[in-house]
Formats: sequence, C-alpha cells, structure tokens
Amino acid sequence: MSGGDTLQVEVTAIERITPLIKHFTLRPVDGAPLPAFSGGSHIVVVMRDTHRVHRNPYSLLSPPSDRAAYQIAVRRMEESRGGSQFMHDQLVVGGRLEIAHPVNLFPLDKIARKHVLIAGGIGITPFLAQLEDLHDGAIPYELHYAVRSPEHAAFHERLRTREGTRLRLYYDSEAQAIDYDGLLSNQPLGTHVYVCGPAGMINRVIETARRWGWPDSHVHWEKFSPPPVGDAFEVFLARAKIAVQVLPDQSLLEAIEGAGVEVPYLCRGGVCGFCQTRVLELDGELLHHDHYLSDADKARGKSIMPCVSRATCKHLVLDL
Ligand code: FES
Repeated sequence: MSGGDTLQVEVTAIERITPLIKHFTLRPVDGAPLPAFSGGSHIVVVMRDTHRVHRNPYSLLSPPSDRAAYQIAVRRMEESRGGSQFMHDQLVVGGRLEIAHPVNLFPLDKIARKHVLIAGGIGITPFLAQLEDLHDGAIPYELHYAVRSPEHAAFHERLRTREGTRLRLYYDSEAQAIDYDGLLSNQPLGTHVYVCGPAGMINRVIETARRWGWPDSHVHWEKFSPPPVGDAFEVFLARAKIAVQVLPDQSLLEAIEGAGVEVPYLCRGGVCGFCQTRVLELDGELLHHDHYLSDADKARGKSIMPCVSRATCKHLVLDL
C-alpha cells in the first residue's frame, strides 16, 4: 500500500457517541461495493488539510458483511498532530475522503478454542467487527472493556444488548479494574487473548500472559502509536536526490510523502514493517519508536521505520 492506491468515499453520517469520540459512516462515491474485509481490519484515511496531508489508520467497526459502507470511530487526541482534529472539526456530512484498501493486522485466530478480548477506550473498535463474526459462531468468547467513566463507554448499549453476560465493563471512575492475573491464569488450553487500548494496558496483558506461561503466538495486540513529536531534522533521499525537512510535529514518513516520494506502508504505526528503509549514512542517533525491528537491528542503525521513528542528527541519508 502507498499513497497512490486509494478509494474515494463520501461521509454520509457523523454522530458524536462520547465526549471524545465521533462515529463516521463512509460510502463509496461510485456506489460500487467496497472491498471485502475481516474483523480487526483497518483503513488508512487520507485527510487533505489546508497545509498538510494526514494519513491516519482507523479500525473498521462495521459488520464485515456490509460492503455498502464502512464505519469508523475517531477519538479526538489531546495532543493531536492534526488528523483527529480534522476529522472532528472540519469534516461534515457530504465531505469526501480518500481511503486505502482494508488491511488486517489483528485477525482472530482461526483455530483458537476460546477468545478473550480486552479493550481500553477507543480500542473497542476492532473488536466490534470481530464480534459480528463471533456472535453467531460456536467458539466461546468474552469481552472485557475498560473506560474512564460510563459516559466514555462508546457503543456500550449495542454491546450490552448483543453480548449480555459475555461483556464485562470496567469504569476507572468507580475504581473498577481488570484483574489481569485472575483473567489470564485460569483459561482453558487453546485460548487466545487479544488486546487493543493504551500502551500501559497492552504491556500489562503481554507481561501477565508471559508470566502465566502463555505462548506468544496466543497473545495478540494492536497498537497504533501516533508518531511521536521531536526536534526538527533534515534527511537526504539518495535516489530522489532531494533534501527533506522533518518538522517537529511531522513524522519522517509524512515529510517524505510531502516531498512527493512514496514509501510503502500498511499500518503507519510501527508494527507491520512495510515502511522499513535502509539508512545509508548517519552522523547522529536514530530514535526508534517502532515495534518491528529487533533490539539488535535498532542497535546496528542500518534501518529505520519512518512512520514512527525519527533522528537527532547532523546528517542522515536514506535509500529512497
Ligand atoms: S507502515 Fe507499518 S511499520 Fe511503518
């Protein structure tokens, strides 16, 4: 996937569902069926702001059987680099967007004997589409959903109605917390656990599962970290023969794309590995923020994931 491979959609409904989250319905401009997807898929939404182009990944939460429209939910980020603000403040019904084809980096395991789903806040979104598949199936599952307070529990009415006792809600405001040890120490053989939410929640689930002897292959997580901000720096693209300035609130990938050079991507969150780029010369330090390169690769400094990583340097040349 790259910036050139997109579909045109129109926003046909916008609904505020919590103080921080809006729910968007997107229909194809040409009326043709949208590409098929499976629960856990995301799309990258291209937002053309006045001075910047934002490309943010959002999970599809609509039923995978519905090819007429996609639904996404967007949380307004306190420290937004512009994408979530654009979606909340500038997008109106009738507005048009480009979206990339769906990609699934967070699928349900097909041979699991049971699924334990753990969501924090906006992390509920990939599970909504997965629940459509799970609801009528024979595989047992349970959903643990933690939010700040009842008013922040997006989609809770739909979940309560459909999931009944399979749903457990936790409110920080009422000092309710997921008992990770209790949950992960006592599951039948063949259970898979999935977590999507804040980094602290994901780390807690991974660490607890390891401590109780879960194989890594049974622990699934989705973390779309927004690219961190940092100091401005300059990069030279060897094949394009151009120098590119990376602004403090811009990712290296966004700066390269802004200069008209395409880099393959899927997740734009440091997970998939698609944007891996060779570092040809460096006088300074690479600031790796991805979850893809090994510690040894990061120490070698020969590769960078420009969707999330940056550099503090006097001189950086990339093989682009
Ligand atoms: S686009 Fe997935 S790691 Fe960069």
